[in-house]
Amino acid sequence: MNRIPIILDGDPGHDDAIAWVFAKASPDLDIKMVSSVAGNQTIEKTTYNMRRICTLLGIDAPQARGAVRPVTADPVTAGNWHGESGLDGPPLPEPGAPLSELSCADLMAKVINESPDPVTIIPTGPLTNVAQLLMLHPEVKRNIGRISLMGGGVTHGNWKPAAEFNIMEDPEAAYVVFHSGIPITMCGLDVTEKAIIRPDDFPRIRDVGNQAAQIVAGWLEFFYRYPMAIGYSGAPVHDPCAVLALIHPEIFTMKDLYVDIELGGEYTRGATVADFKGGLGKEPNATVVLSIDRDRYIDLLVDALRTFDGWEVPII
Ligand code: RIB
Ligand code: CA
Repeated sequence: MNRIPIILDGDPGHDDAIAWVFAKASPDLDIKMVSSVAGNQTIEKTTYNMRRICTLLGIDAPQARGAVRPVTADPVTAGNWHGESGLDGPPLPEPGAPLSELSCADLMAKVINESPDPVTIIPTGPLTNVAQLLMLHPEVKRNIGRISLMGGGVTHGNWKPAAEFNIMEDPEAAYVVFHSGIPITMCGLDVTEKAIIRPDDFPRIRDVGNQAAQIVAGWLEFFYRYPMAIGYSGAPVHDPCAVLALIHPEIFTMKDLYVDIELGGEYTRGATVADFKGGLGKEPNATVVLSIDRDRYIDLLVDALRTFDGWEVPII
């Protein structure tokens, strides 16, 4: 089977970084570009983190700096979860490749229009870049196979009671994406808060023994602190679900549903509202991922990290 051409778009972010470990490790995926978006931290920090992760993992693909801020909402950062740098924890290599001279939307359009096979976009941050792509280059829709995203939640929020961070950050962008007609796999909090990596999992990850495993273990040893302090049993490592839903659907349960984005509402702006009963009479526009086999998730992370045996980059 041909490898699926993919675009990684995120706001690294510890869980974005681990999602990119899975993407790089997979023989079924071909990373065609990587882009940053403001979210967990400012665009300057998420872009620097994107570039360092690509160097660390040996992701050899064009990199673009994405949107500075959401379409309308005032940007919010998540330093409590990811630290001041957005990727606090072990030292990382300096960027080894320049940023593209093209804008994010233009580079995405170039990659998509030049691809012989439909491209899958994997956003793991606010959807600002993807919405800009669709508004500036509507012709690309014909060659986008799927958008597999981390965002939303059909039963609850996190940053707000009814809204998850990525969608809440830019609800208008999410509205553009969910109304695009492009097939969507939605990995919301319903599944991602079950993708918990616990402290007793960390030794098995670190014991893979290579540089990538040591750094991922270091990221987790930073990233789990805040969620455990607020009641989680470990680190909800959200973003890898958006990659794994493509390459290991067998570890998930999913349901096709019509999902819309609440743009108003004092308490509900940014909510992803799913029509379980079909009362709206609209065809499903998303495959909503609802649960995960957590043990298999950890197994797959260990397997992915093993693919970095023999790969090491200088960290000064
Ligand atoms: O709500 C969780 C999401 O927000 C994850 O993608 C995390 O990285 C942050 O972007
Ligand atoms: Ca993210």
